[in-house]
Amino acid sequence: MKKTKTIEKNARIVNKYLNSKLKGNPKMLYDAAAHLIIHGGKRLRPHMVIKSCQILGGNVTIAMPAASAVEMIHNFTLVHDDIMDNDEMRHGVPTVHKKFGMPIAILAGDVLFSKAYQIISDAKLSKDATVQLVSRLSKACVDVCEGQLLDVKMAEEKRIPSQKEYITMIGKKTAALFDVSCSMGAICATGNQKDISNLSNFGRNLGIAFQITDDLIGVMGDPKITKKPVGNDLREGKKSLPILMAIESAKGKDKKTILKAFGNPKATKNDLKNAVDVIRSLGIEENVRTQALEYAEMAKKSLLKYSGSAKTELIDLLDFVVKRSL
Ligand code: IPE
Ligand code: IPE
Ligand code: MG
Ligand code: MG
Repeated sequence: MKKTKTIEKNARIVNKYLNSKLKGNPKMLYDAAAHLIIHGGKRLRPHMVIKSCQILGGNVTIAMPAASAVEMIHNFTLVHDDIMDNDEMRHGVPTVHKKFGMPIAILAGDVLFSKAYQIISDAKLSKDATVQLVSRLSKACVDVCEGQLLDVKMAEEKRIPSQKEYITMIGKKTAALFDVSCSMGAICATGNQKDISNLSNFGRNLGIAFQITDDLIGVMGDPKITKKPVGNDLREGKKSLPILMAIESAKGKDKKTILKAFGNPKATKNDLKNAVDVIRSLGIEENVRTQALEYAEMAKKSLLKYSGSAKTELIDLLDFVVKRSL
């Protein structure tokens, strides 16, 4: 499933804006901050800001500062996430801490975080809208931190969490940012709290569908497409939905093969490959995709009262999120 033409079009506008904001001295700090952005990324969150603004009568120009700010926050979380997850590749290139070293990677994340708030504060919106944007974005960042802690803790523990716990965790680490992307877009267009809340719900459920699918791609995706190695989630002992389902349904020798790699920092490439092959053979993909689809259906319901092309594009995005292989 390919990204739609409008995602690409919005990505080009956002890229221009981001490039202009990520310049400065010392150059190395900005090179590190821009590293992942330059080498890839789908720009889904800015697309959601823009479309959520347009569905309520707003336009690209008023949505652009919030759209770019969200993408900066997203990239800040990626830089720090790769440190936490011991990941060495993203977008087909070394992660920021691998390329620039740990201190610069931490600072690159910090600069992305700070610039995001600067951009929102400098945007020419009403004072009331600006305060709402800052407040909501801050709350989302706190949620991401809480969710990331839950993710790391769950990975450390031997205990297998329930699916409900998994959903709570991804609701915070991932869906919070999708939620705030849509609510920020809405705030740029309107002060109507009901509309803001509808878009917020849309983003939250889309975000959960997104992470469920992402976790599936994380274990079974094609590294040539995802540009990141498969098997890392297994090695790190991540309690993602497909892994939970695989451990639950595997028996005998198959289960042993999975558990040999799961949460084992010493697992060899071959151990990981064998475990991934077993998980593929269990046929859980359809099951996981169905769960993602249920959240996508819930998301759709939040947009019932709207119409027009921005609505169609938000629905198209839902479709992309659950069917994608990247
Ligand atoms: C990756 O998000 C981090 C997760 C929340 C799983 P994206 O897939 O949207 O990241 P990009 O497209 O590489 O920026
Ligand atoms: C996604 O993290 C959430 C954040 C980055 C905050 P993951 O660890 O699940 O995502 P990938 O697989 O590194 O992109
Ligand atoms: Mg990660
Ligand atoms: Mg992570």
